[in-house]
Amino acid sequence: MSTGKEEAELWGPGARDWSDYNEPMCTPFYEAVLDATEVGRGTKLLDVGCGGGFALLLAARRGAEVSGIDVTQPLLDIAAERVPGATLVAGDLEDPLPFPRDAFDVVTAFNSVQYADDAVAVVKGVSQVVKPGGLVSFVVWGPPDKCESGVLFAELGPLLPPAPPAAPGAVAWSEDGRLEDLAARAGLTPLTVADVPNPLIYPDLATAVRTQLSSGPAQKAIRNTGLPAVRGALTRAFAGSRQPDGTYRQDNVFRYLVARV
Ligand SMILES: C[S@@+](CC[C@H](N)C(=O)[O-])C[C@H]1O[C@@H](n2cnc3c(N)ncnc32)[C@H](O)[C@@H]1O
Repeated sequence: MSTGKEEAELWGPGARDWSDYNEPMCTPFYEAVLDATEVGRGTKLLDVGCGGGFALLLAARRGAEVSGIDVTQPLLDIAAERVPGATLVAGDLEDPLPFPRDAFDVVTAFNSVQYADDAVAVVKGVSQVVKPGGLVSFVVWGPPDKCESGVLFAELGPLLPPAPPAAPGAVAWSEDGRLEDLAARAGLTPLTVADVPNPLIYPDLATAVRTQLSSGPAQKAIRNTGLPAVRGALTRAFAGSRQPDGTYRQDNVFRYLVARV
């Protein structure tokens, strides 16, 4: 059973804050993947789980012809404002993708496929719309010992409903060989796996908490335990991140895989 409908309900309420604050902070790994997949003038690119479209904006600035799909309509509305020339489709990645076969040179997925119940099926579906010889890239959180934002998951965890026994969890995808295995099981040829340093830096504590309240997992915790408990948990999670200049900083790495279809 797809989780798409529930994901849309979770990512919708915070769409504006997620798009305005979180997505621009991810520029280092967006640009690293666009470099690694050689996105440039005329590249036909699809971003799956495109959110508010910041990665699409960066690709469009390189001259790419960009398309995006996401299950959360309020995020797509923001992507449409940001990238007026993009083709944007509301849809669930666990359904057959509504694009012709071989339509794209490159497909990217920034922290999205791991939310699917069956990531292998999603990757197989993605590969159908990429030309033979084209590239697919997935980004996930890096190893837990290199991700200071793990404190967010640690604080939110007790406020979430119990996960199904088979659920891998947000950081499990950085285990050695996991992304290569996902690609190979979906019939792709893994080419590269690399880690990108990407600190998340907020101007103040209020912005840090507000940004993280907008994530799907935080919204799930709010449904389970209420806003005050989740706000308190996130405030605790940022306690150790204050810098001398008053900003809040968590150093992280994000891992990407590039595979050939
Ligand atoms: C962590 S956010 C990442 C968004 C964006 N790629 C970014 O870098 O900020 C996860 C995204 O995956 C989307 N998503 C989750 N499950 C999905 C599904 N089954 N089908 C389509 N989109 C999905 C959510 O709506 C959300 O936009």
